[in-house]
Amino acid sequence: MREPIGVIGTGYVGLVTAAGFAELGNEVWCIDIDAEKIRGLREGRIPIWEPGLDELVARHRGRLHFSTDVADALEHASLLFVAVGTPPTYSGDADLSAVHAVVGAMPASDRHALVMKSTVPVGTGDSIKRLFAEQGKGFRYVSCPEFLKEGSALKDFLAPDRVVVGDDGDWAGDAVAALYAPLEAPLVRTDIRSAEMVKLASNAFLATKISFINEIANVCEETGADVVEVARGMGLDDRIGPKFLQAGIGFGGSCFPKDVTALKQLAGNSGYHFQLLNAVIEVNELQKRRVISKLQKHLGTLVGKEIGLLGLAFKPNTDDMREASSLVLSARLQAAGARVRAYDPVAEEEARKLISGVDLMGSAGETVAGADAVVLVTEWPEFAQLDLGEVAAAMRGTLLVDGRNFLDPAAVRAAGLTYEGVGRAATPTPVAHGGD
Ligand SMILES: NC(=O)c1ccc[n+]([C@@H]2O[C@H](COP(=O)([O-])OP(=O)(O)OC[C@H]3O[C@@H](n4cnc5c(N)ncnc54)[C@H](O)[C@@H]3O)[C@@H](O)[C@H]2O)c1
Repeated sequence: MREPIGVIGTGYVGLVTAAGFAELGNEVWCIDIDAEKIRGLREGRIPIWEPGLDELVARHRGRLHFSTDVADALEHASLLFVAVGTPPTYSGDADLSAVHAVVGAMPASDRHALVMKSTVPVGTGDSIKRLFAEQGKGFRYVSCPEFLKEGSALKDFLAPDRVVVGDDGDWAGDAVAALYAPLEAPLVRTDIRSAEMVKLASNAFLATKISFINEIANVCEETGADVVEVARGMGLDDRIGPKFLQAGIGFGGSCFPKDVTALKQLAGNSGYHFQLLNAVIEVNELQKRRVISKLQKHLGTLVGKEIGLLGLAFKPNTDDMREASSLVLSARLQAAGARVRAYDPVAEEEARKLISGVDLMGSAGETVAGADAVVLVTEWPEFAQLDLGEVAAAMRGTLLVDGRNFLDPAAVRAAGLTYEGVGRAATPTPVAHGGD
């Protein structure tokens, strides 16, 4: 019999964690303050778009219990996973108000533990433990940061690269490690502060890799090298690896931008100036804006120009629009006087909440029709299937900016379009492939 657990917060991380543990055989009590969300979940409606999640939740309906009352989780479970949001504040620090609301709602108890999945600054665990101690609550505390990627979140839960458990070496840490044991993933059992730092440092490193290859791409544009070839050559080096070496129009999403800023801020608050992260953030901001100068290079002024955006989500296979490059791009385009229309296969509803002044279209075809230029913003698989001849015929202009180096430049050019990628020579030089 597997141990029942509670999950507080039923967003991307909470719901995936709940469904994942249900798959492992645990009963899960899922709590959220959003009554509408809980009502929907009880009726089988999944509030987010994540491949396979609706099937998994449906399959384990009997094990998943949804409530707005944390008492339900406290009654049935000892381990309460916290997966509430920790968005950035104006200062760049993580906003811990939702975490503190959860902590404040905990009763005096010595048979419960909070298991922190939310990404929090180093030292948060210690301050929560201090709070529990001051209030005479015998709650234990475990840091168990989450590394899932939206779009492959269930796979990441069920086959993680590692599980990190930061604790005080007590029953709670043992129980969390035991919960994850069936996954047979490498376990990093460590102290709470180190566990908190593993999460922030991992995201900061990945963001650094992206900004690094984006800078290489920009130098490639100046020097006639092709960043796709360069990344291929670099990535085969075992010490470097091919992942996160795709140049593009910048990283976004609910984690990288805020976690990098939070780590920079955390360092600053502790008196350390994290120079590298300043550059990572600045490169990323500039990268989103470089699309504008590419458009201007070909179109001249953007005033009155019709620009079509293919994709809005911060990456494919998610409807998450938080900090998506499309937000900056569409705002910059409108500020430059362009008329913007866009299509995303799944993020339209989220886009309506975050983007204004952009015509949201029902298909890629409607988006490119009559456009002076088209920008591929998100590398959705369906865009690889576009009939480029039809795109060229439907557009008013000929420029296609491939913001993710997703399309084959030769095929785009063969269709009569002008191809602009990121870090790829504007006019291709013949390359002799193969060799001896
Ligand atoms: N989304 C990701 O890919 C990802 C990956 C790893 C880690 N994280 C971290 O996990 C945490 C959660 O992220 P997310 O994307 O799932 O957030 P989210 O915004 O999708 O979900 C948060 C949920 O918590 C609920 N909530 C807020 N306050 C609450 C309270 N007091 N009690 C109960 N429920 C409450 C909200 O209603 C919402 O449903 C963040 O700290 C994030 O940085 C996210």
